[in-house]
Amino acid sequence: MSLAKILVIGGAGYIGSHVTKALLAEGFAVTVYDNLSTGQSCNLFDKTAFIAGDILDAAKLNEVMAQGFDAVVHLAAKKAVGESMENPQLYARNNINGSINIFNAMIDNNVKNVVFSSTAAAYGTPQYLPLDEKHPLNPLSFYGFTKIEIERVMDWYSRIKDFHYIALRYFNAVGYAADGTIRGKEKNSQNLLPIVMDVICGRREKMQIFGNDYDTPDGTCLRDYVHVEDLARAHVAAIKKLLKDSQSYIINLSTGKGTSVLEMIDAVERVTGRKVNYEFAPRRAGDPAVIVAGNELAQKLLGWTPQYTDIDKIVKTTWNLEEK
Ligand code: UFG
Repeated sequence: MSLAKILVIGGAGYIGSHVTKALLAEGFAVTVYDNLSTGQSCNLFDKTAFIAGDILDAAKLNEVMAQGFDAVVHLAAKKAVGESMENPQLYARNNINGSINIFNAMIDNNVKNVVFSSTAAAYGTPQYLPLDEKHPLNPLSFYGFTKIEIERVMDWYSRIKDFHYIALRYFNAVGYAADGTIRGKEKNSQNLLPIVMDVICGRREKMQIFGNDYDTPDGTCLRDYVHVEDLARAHVAAIKKLLKDSQSYIINLSTGKGTSVLEMIDAVERVTGRKVNYEFAPRRAGDPAVIVAGNELAQKLLGWTPQYTDIDKIVKTTWNLEEK
């Protein structure tokens, strides 16, 4: 199994580069397919083959898939929640059409297995906590909707064709490889920790905390932060599972632990020894007070539990990269 050939689509991106690193460490033969729109060539590894290509290029995907792969990891997507509400056409085209191009090229070339990057944004405002995979899907953004649509296409394909998938619904991805091997920081991230780092490093004068009147211990929102290396390990486990038993699943990747915005800022101040310049601002539209999920299914099906549970250690991996 260790010589299996894997095509990582979006393998030069933030999560994709960590997945590629983890697959290489397990002895898989990896080809990266990426249009380098947000992915970066400095995140490509010497040991991988690289194909520059777009997921909207169906002919190219068909040509590449004809090389024959044991499995595909599909991480190529537009992922900015706010942007998806301003330009849904872009998200429909890139995420939905692009994914269908990938799956069709797989089926046409007898490539049977895919691990798909899905999202906690599929759930919307939690109706109960901790969330689990059975929670109703009520996305608050078009971005979240696109991911559910893609899961549904995969579900139908898996019923009709020799096609198997594992959709991994990520919670809040954070951190970088602790050994410093991933050098390209995600560009223009609008997520909390990268913004706090922008302030700490002087690229941004001040940040805003969106709401301090939530019904949470310190009034700020709680999120379930999962380290990117833990996410990467889950992809390797998902590939192994698919290659072994050819069954399809949807699985949350979460820690079960909530960290508030203020706790994240405190952690950054402890780790860096610097003060974060922030102010309280009104709530951001569409932000649920708490998003936390258990990981029983990931444990049961993938043998996966997150290794990073300490927020300071998570922040440290991001700070290491900034210090470089
Ligand atoms: N926040 C601030 N100030 C900022 C940025 C964020 O207070 O400048 C707060 C947000 O209000 C929220 C928390 O920090 O309470 C986390 O916000 P992020 O924007 O980092 O992340 P979200 O929880 O909104 O969403 C992220 C991804 C989604 C994914 C989701 C899964 O962006 O794609 O996690 O839980 F679906």
